[in-house]
Amino acid sequence: MKQNFVRGMAILTCFLAMLVIVGLAKENSAVKTIELPEDNPTAKLKPGPGVDAVEANCTSCHSTDYIVRQPGGDTQRWQDEVNTMIKVFGATVSDEEVKVVVNYLANSYGPAPAKPQPASKPTPGAPSPKEKSQPR
Ligand code: HEC
Repeated sequence: MKQNFVRGMAILTCFLAMLVIVGLAKENSAVKTIELPEDNPTAKLKPGPGVDAVEANCTSCHSTDYIVRQPGGDTQRWQDEVNTMIKVFGATVSDEEVKVVVNYLANSYGPAPAKPQPASKPTPGAPSPKEKSQPR
């Protein structure tokens, strides 16, 4: 009689353990979502057409800080940047979205306007930069 009880308990324990394992497996397979905190105000993307595509495709790995703190650039520069994200870091962005993202970035974070160069008069007697860099 006692043996039956022990065996019964062992079977019950096994059964419960299996339930727990199945439960855990289920838990792990369920889609989980996390709420990311708001980006800090300085990292906010400028409003403009295509900003949604950037929000959707470019914020899963890093904050928009990475984008807004870059020196601006033209379409080519942003295209290269997005290519790097895709080829090197594994971002998945459809061709259609790439165009939208690159256009947005080039429009909103375009090249800095050229600064007027100060008229550079060579100082008499100063070595030219070329001479300076040459080994003596
Ligand atoms: C799969 C992850 C991932 C996604 C998605 C992603 N990036 Fe990145 N990005 C990175 C990583 C990793 C770095 C950091 C590289 C480093 O520290 O050198 C980075 C850095 C950057 C930088 C900083 C300059 C540089 O090259 O290091 C910019 C700008 C940038 N990402 C723009 C974007 C844009 C625009 C998108 C959307 C098309 C995007 N990222 C989507 C992973 C990603």
